[in-house]
Amino acid sequence: MNDAPERHPHDVLVIGAGGAGLRAAIEAAEQGASVGLVCKSLLGKAHTVMAEGGVAAALGHVEEHDTWQVHFRDTMVGGKLLNNPRMAELHAKEAPDRVRELEYWGAVFDRTRDGRILQRPFGGHTYPRLAHVGDRTGLEMIRTLQDRAVAAGIKVYMECTVTHLLARPDRVKGAFGYWRTTGQTVLFPAKAIVLATGGIGRAYQVTSNSWEYSGDGQALAYLAGAELIDMEFVQFHPTGMVWPPGVRGLLVTEAVRGEGGILRNKDGERFMWKYLPEDRRHEYAATDEEASRWVDAQSSGQTTDARRPPELSTRDNVARAIYTEVREGRGSPHGGVFLDISYLPPEHVRRKLPSMYDQFKELADVDITAGPMEVGPTTHYMMGGIRVDAETGATTRTGLYAAGEVAAGMHGANRLGGNSLSDLLVFGQRTGAAAAADAATQPEMPHVDPTAVRAAAAELAAPFGSGEEEGDAGGDDPYRVHEELQATMGSLVGIFRNEEDLDEAIRLLADLRARWDGIRIAGGRAYNPSWGLVYELRNMMIVAEAVARSAKERRESRGAHSRLDFPELDPAWATKNNATRLSGGTMEIVATALPPLPDDLRQLITTEAH
Ligand code: FUM
Repeated sequence: MNDAPERHPHDVLVIGAGGAGLRAAIEAAEQGASVGLVCKSLLGKAHTVMAEGGVAAALGHVEEHDTWQVHFRDTMVGGKLLNNPRMAELHAKEAPDRVRELEYWGAVFDRTRDGRILQRPFGGHTYPRLAHVGDRTGLEMIRTLQDRAVAAGIKVYMECTVTHLLARPDRVKGAFGYWRTTGQTVLFPAKAIVLATGGIGRAYQVTSNSWEYSGDGQALAYLAGAELIDMEFVQFHPTGMVWPPGVRGLLVTEAVRGEGGILRNKDGERFMWKYLPEDRRHEYAATDEEASRWVDAQSSGQTTDARRPPELSTRDNVARAIYTEVREGRGSPHGGVFLDISYLPPEHVRRKLPSMYDQFKELADVDITAGPMEVGPTTHYMMGGIRVDAETGATTRTGLYAAGEVAAGMHGANRLGGNSLSDLLVFGQRTGAAAAADAATQPEMPHVDPTAVRAAAAELAAPFGSGEEEGDAGGDDPYRVHEELQATMGSLVGIFRNEEDLDEAIRLLADLRARWDGIRIAGGRAYNPSWGLVYELRNMMIVAEAVARSAKERRESRGAHSRLDFPELDPAWATKNNATRLSGGTMEIVATALPPLPDDLRQLITTEAH
């Protein structure tokens, strides 16, 4: 093993190669920057593909009344007005162009009868707004962006984990990590760095996220002195698989409900009628009959005056409803509820939801054209994350940028389905451009302090103790610590929270943090997943603590954050973001002011769409 790290300097280094990272990298390369794209696993394996049902953009192809103004309003209302209004405005205005651009680059969307991009309904969106490719939209987007990135000559570093950002007081100067395949360390001096590492799902046991999503970008930014916000807002997607155990949490796309899927409890009751928020009840069908008319119209591509079914309430609300049904004893045999689309013609279901058909057939031996699925909430998305500037994606640390799920502000207290794909396109593009422009102002490749590199290398080697290559672990086991972390987050910092549980979670997390120092692993450096887990655990423990502490501070219920001991919205919290900062070696949570909502945008929110 060569002790000196490999060295790969770039103008712009993008860490994370999902949709946001790819879009940022493409933009930076098109602005003339030399771009490195680091990806913890294989290129194309990204949580972006788990946004299956579509990308939200007010194209107005199915409902001509749709405009950016209505999309903006829906996003703000869905986010309980805690969104950064400028981000929500830019997103709503620019999403249509970003989707059209993707089509121009080769994405093959489903079509309306007159040949335009087809759009489907999703929860909280006033009109059918989600451009889609069956139920494989994220996959098609990644395929398209990947082709474009490779054609743009971007240098891709696969199977490479970044463990440290190297920063000086003036700016961030590089990143340090290792190749997962060999264990060789690697140094990326960079004039600007974009974090696009996605979410934190792996801090929870039941999640739609795969192994890569351990809060790496959030933790790297925090450790480098950047600010996180809104960490209490974790999205539990209402519908993940609950059975068999090996696939618990796997996503069941909201497109099932968008196409007319009905939720029922074990008694056959269509329970969502009971859970519609009073102030928005007028947006939903009043009866089963009206909901059926709406579904018939959608399936046949007709317009209708029928309002949408209750299953298309926002995700926070549907997830709470399902959780409540199960907790009160009305759940399905495996601890979920039933989601039924089998009343529609089988060929229609197979055409609109091909992946769901295959997924249930192959994994659960359930034919969704013949009977219901069992589903329950699954940790899916992080609304909170790194504080960024709306226009540029700049974090509070010079030289460091963030885009996509790792960044915060766009979605407020709850994200609408489909808004993540448009978010990553809009802000991936903006952030890539800004990072390239920043890099162009730096004449020299930054000098990375060798002492900081040596310190990072020593930290990386520490879990082997003195027994590297000899198979003698000793100390605590990272897998056990991880299981306990997930159990803590699932049981004490889940869909419903209260002060006592949050205090207990904070205490347990501190114990786990103390045990982390004593983790020892066996084996060598090549292909050693235990080694990877040690640094992922460091990251997960940081984000978990930030979630628990921020959740404790916000003594109200808003969007995805539900406090049993403070069940109402509190106007005092309506204009505050909780910021998480590293201060004197400890985590500090501070309430900060939400960016003001300009009058013209405020008016859009109070105007009802027609
Ligand atoms: O349900 C889904 O297809 C997920 C979409 C999203 O998270 O945006």
